[in-house]
Amino acid sequence: MPAFTATAPAKIILFGEHAVVYGRPAIAVPVTSLQARAIVRGAPHAPHGQVRLISPAVQLDALLDELEPNHPLRRVVELTAQELGASYLPACQITLQSTIPVASGLGSGAAISVAIIRALAAYLGKALADETVSALAYEVEKIHHGTPSGVDNTVIALRKAVYFVRGQPIESLSIGHPFTLLIADSGIPSPTATTVAEVRAGWQQNPAYFEALFDQIGAIVQQARSLIEKGQPELLGDLMNHNQRLLQEVGVSSPELESLIAAARRGGALGAKLSGGGRGGNIIALVDESNAAAVGESLRAAGARSVFATVVQ
Ligand code: MEV
Repeated sequence: MPAFTATAPAKIILFGEHAVVYGRPAIAVPVTSLQARAIVRGAPHAPHGQVRLISPAVQLDALLDELEPNHPLRRVVELTAQELGASYLPACQITLQSTIPVASGLGSGAAISVAIIRALAAYLGKALADETVSALAYEVEKIHHGTPSGVDNTVIALRKAVYFVRGQPIESLSIGHPFTLLIADSGIPSPTATTVAEVRAGWQQNPAYFEALFDQIGAIVQQARSLIEKGQPELLGDLMNHNQRLLQEVGVSSPELESLIAAARRGGALGAKLSGGGRGGNIIALVDESNAAAVGESLRAAGARSVFATVVQ
């Protein structure tokens, strides 16, 4: 039986996390060195319509209908089958693999969804538009974290840099000049659902304060977009630092993230900030050829669990 495989990249948010949930723009880029993979194999001897899901990383080996109706993996398979007009799927086995750390702001949930959607479409011999893939993954994002903006599923389904505003047509972003970011992991898992819910609670108590912060973040995103498109990424560092100060005020930083950010700046980074939901997960630091090695060393010395470079191009 042939295997139908699809992969999906991780993502990082360069600017605008959290404010994007409240209608402000965000800039996000794919990270192709980390991947989720779904492999679908037909199971001709299994009972009609039986779907088996295997994910060794989370010790999952289950039949689809043994999972809770709202289980993200069950939902993504059912939604995709429905979209493809298949009232049942020919019996198959779906194996999941991923090198994207979970609960670290890198979009692991959305990447798994996108990989499954594309592999199932290939299995059924059908093609789905990127926008449809993104819309299906968005439905599953709602299970992962209540009120998602949709930025994660969008950048992961499109596999290119995006300037994203909730509810507006997707705009891809042209990168005037490539630039390098180091991504450093605090090693602290932090589900996005938790920080998104906490920010919402704060916003409900004090909407004017949060709206003002979100406005300022939105203005940074606009400036960043212009610098990225004009090919002046070396000027992004100050904007990253400014965005980070606002994220502190939003309440989603943490001592561990601050310590990594300070280490990146000490090592010579042009700017640094948390990326994604915050509290734990990853920080990003803007580097150039002259300081990349020193920034990496400084981050490791400050306790980063992993540090790797990604080129935005
Ligand atoms: C998560 O990657 C980014 C957040 O802004 C949440 C969202 O946009 O849904 C924190």
